[in-house]
Amino acid sequence: MKILILGSGGREYSIARAIKNETEDHELFFQPGNGATDNLGTNLNIKDYNELAVFAQENEIELTIVGPEAPLVDGVVNIFRAQGLTIFGPTKEAAQLEGSKVYMKNFLAKYNIPTAGFIESDSIEDLYKFTDTLSTPIVVKADGLCGGKGVIIAMSHDEAKQAIGEMLSGKSFGDAGKKVIVEEFLDGFELSMFAICDGDDYILLQAAQDHKRLHNNDEGPNTGGMGAYAPTPLVDEELYQKVKDRVIVPTLDGMKKEGAPFEGVLFIGIMVVNGEPITLEFNVRFGDPECEILMPLMTSSVSDMFLKASTNRLNEIKVEFSKQYAVGVVMASQNYPYSSSTPAEIIVDEVHHEEIANNTHISYAGVSKEDDVLYANGGRVLVCVGLGDTIKQARDRAYLRCGQVHFVGKKLRTDIAYQAL
Ligand code: AMP
Ligand code: GLY
Repeated sequence: MKILILGSGGREYSIARAIKNETEDHELFFQPGNGATDNLGTNLNIKDYNELAVFAQENEIELTIVGPEAPLVDGVVNIFRAQGLTIFGPTKEAAQLEGSKVYMKNFLAKYNIPTAGFIESDSIEDLYKFTDTLSTPIVVKADGLCGGKGVIIAMSHDEAKQAIGEMLSGKSFGDAGKKVIVEEFLDGFELSMFAICDGDDYILLQAAQDHKRLHNNDEGPNTGGMGAYAPTPLVDEELYQKVKDRVIVPTLDGMKKEGAPFEGVLFIGIMVVNGEPITLEFNVRFGDPECEILMPLMTSSVSDMFLKASTNRLNEIKVEFSKQYAVGVVMASQNYPYSSSTPAEIIVDEVHHEEIANNTHISYAGVSKEDDVLYANGGRVLVCVGLGDTIKQARDRAYLRCGQVHFVGKKLRTDIAYQAL
């Protein structure tokens, strides 16, 4: 197939890598891709979605896969579908599940999907009043997309009120903060679950755990994610079943009733409290770095799964998973997540050890290429992935691979998957 992938991160690299490893030969295009995706296909520079749809038509692209949320919320799927193109992802309307936290919370409440108790409003008085009824910590969220920064966990009522004020005034997040959610704090363990959906049917992938904080022991500032592993032993069959019955099925049914059937990746951020899965949030795309560890665990065709999901035919296929575990360790640049860093040359040692060569790989993210030299030029630079028969083996292998990657200022956590060990 000729396949176009939108995005530039490790997530998109890992999807492309999985597709390239299939027995069938595929030709890949990236918009825009990164300094390493051009080893897997052709990087484009066509920012306008209408022009990109013309490119897809003229070049007979058979499937487009959208990585990040922004093009989905902007309606790239609507534009491609209007031209008769096959594209994997939700429409603009369905992408509201991520694009607006107010839409998402009201949807969860309407369809009785368990979520943290909340109020959504643009009135400072109402938000303050609800805040006063909660005990600390208190969670304050901006409605719109804030690049993963729109959630404040306030340790006092005063801090919560200050965050509310700064969001409503537009000071902290501009228009994205014009409506605000205040909700109760849930104490439990967090999961990332991913359902591939075609509007009617779904395939639930293995449960993963992400590591959002910059430093070991979940300390330091929030990041996009510093590492992940899957499948997590913290989830048993009963919990998978609860997520299916209480979250995924009612969400697919509900979105049909709302006139916006959900196609694409439903990313469910879950807090497990006393064995019960409570939905923290939805995203309408793969998690990053979760995608980088889930792709290598899929033993059936990934491109066929995305194609069937885009054409309402998921019921025709059976998706298969490896029995192994995957651990992914993010290497970030010097100043991440605060500011950009000076581009640094990346040196990757040749892997001579057969066990490491066969059971690890690198998914490249914030990298650029000049004269065939790779430079770290983004926040999260790359992800070293290890596979193994146990989580410990997968993790040891991932870290051995990390030791063979060098660039000035490289930053990584050394405790990825600690929850499972
Ligand atoms: P969100 O963007 O809604 O996933 O929030 C980002 C992170 O904030 C989540 O991954 C959780 O770690 C944390 N969080 C969000 N909502 C809550 C909540 N109600 N209780 C506890 N932690 C939360
Ligand atoms: N790793 C979490 C996310 O992609 O939002």
